[in-house]
Amino acid sequence: MLKKKVSKKDFGEDFIWGIASSALQSEGAHNRDGKGVSIWDEFVTQKNTVLNGDTHYESADFYTHYERDISLVQEMGIPNFRLSLSWTRILPMGTGDVNEAGLDFYHKVIDCCLAKGIEPWITLYHWDLPLELEKQGGWTNRKILEWFENYVRVCVNAFKGKVKHWMILNEPMVFTGAGYFLGIHAPGKKGFKNFIPALHHAVLCQAIGFRTIKEIVPSAHVGTTYSCSYVTPYSNTLKDFKAAERVDALLNRLFIEPSLGLGYPIEDLPFLRKIKNYIEPGDTQLMQVEFDFIGIQNYTREVVAFCVFTPYINAKLIPADRRKVFHTLMDWEVYPEAIYEMISKFSKYKGVKKIIITENGASFPDELKDGIIADQHRINYLESYLEQSKLAKSIYPKLKGYFVWSLTDNFEWAEGYKQRFGLIHIDYTSQQRTVKNSGWWYKAFLGEQEEIE
Ligand code: FCB
Repeated sequence: MLKKKVSKKDFGEDFIWGIASSALQSEGAHNRDGKGVSIWDEFVTQKNTVLNGDTHYESADFYTHYERDISLVQEMGIPNFRLSLSWTRILPMGTGDVNEAGLDFYHKVIDCCLAKGIEPWITLYHWDLPLELEKQGGWTNRKILEWFENYVRVCVNAFKGKVKHWMILNEPMVFTGAGYFLGIHAPGKKGFKNFIPALHHAVLCQAIGFRTIKEIVPSAHVGTTYSCSYVTPYSNTLKDFKAAERVDALLNRLFIEPSLGLGYPIEDLPFLRKIKNYIEPGDTQLMQVEFDFIGIQNYTREVVAFCVFTPYINAKLIPADRRKVFHTLMDWEVYPEAIYEMISKFSKYKGVKKIIITENGASFPDELKDGIIADQHRINYLESYLEQSKLAKSIYPKLKGYFVWSLTDNFEWAEGYKQRFGLIHIDYTSQQRTVKNSGWWYKAFLGEQEEIE
């Protein structure tokens, strides 16, 4: 018998193990039972926004199949399930009248989890802003502070008796960067004039969301989630080193530092100076918040070189396939040390009390053969990232939990259905579910079964 490199025991008894999904990516039912229109419902109708013209309209149809999917979570022995609420299912116009059918749906989902002994972890905002609010500027309009607070209040009042764990935002860097600077995600806006106010308002909303929940339920366990990538320079030159520092500030420091009272990293990112035009008296205090935990979501590292042609940041990412390193179908380098580095980086902030990996996972070209998906690459990926997490935990005990992305295959934003991250395979024609070998591997890992080889 070979001793496994990493086992559940290594993380201690109270470590939180889970799996994650999001509403827009897996629910489908985009216009059923009174749901309003979100920015993604509109974005996918525009030309060339999503690969192959895919839409999330049906996806894994979690809306219909939630009981079956939650039963599979139970069957895999996963004790915690992270999912998000769709703002427009609950408040179709973003503010105003509540759609009772939307609340009912989430009551059923949450009740189903609890009945099966699975703890629900709720993300309030996983990128699907109501279109009505976007028409008024969305995240660029300071009114988002009121809109968001009202939405949080409605959700928390509805589910406060059942839900203990809340996350305010999912990866604000990605939804502001891709949605309001690069224009490659909904709502497809571009440039600093959109990005800078969206950034500042998202920073304020993560704090407002926290305070709103705590005001209603002081004992709630509340955090927010950040995307992060380990950033290294392409060469040993000072230019590349400096470029890597700028990208690190942009990808890894921009949202957490103001919330910890450290301000925006303007010294490393001088283009951010304009943010002062949006900071109102009292904002610096308003931004600061002591989250019960922060969620970090890591998949890869980024290798960065100086580039004179990229305005403001003078840096470019060197893609994994060009570097000829092993990578996933997303072209994300498989670099398990990245998760170690990120746990280490975020642990070093004094104000961070607790860290939970709220997403980690991989997309590979899966093949369904004789009812089996032998996704050994995904198993290796998860195992190697867990091994590094174990190492990190032995030095940085703030690490308290780990969630795999994702429960089922789903709509991967601008990449559509080509990318499959699930531990459960979805046949999008028949809606048939097949647990991949990685799902059975996770079950064995969580059940602490010894592997005999
Ligand atoms: C993260 C997102 C999540 C999913 C994974 C692959 O950035 O939070 O919704 O798309 O990447």
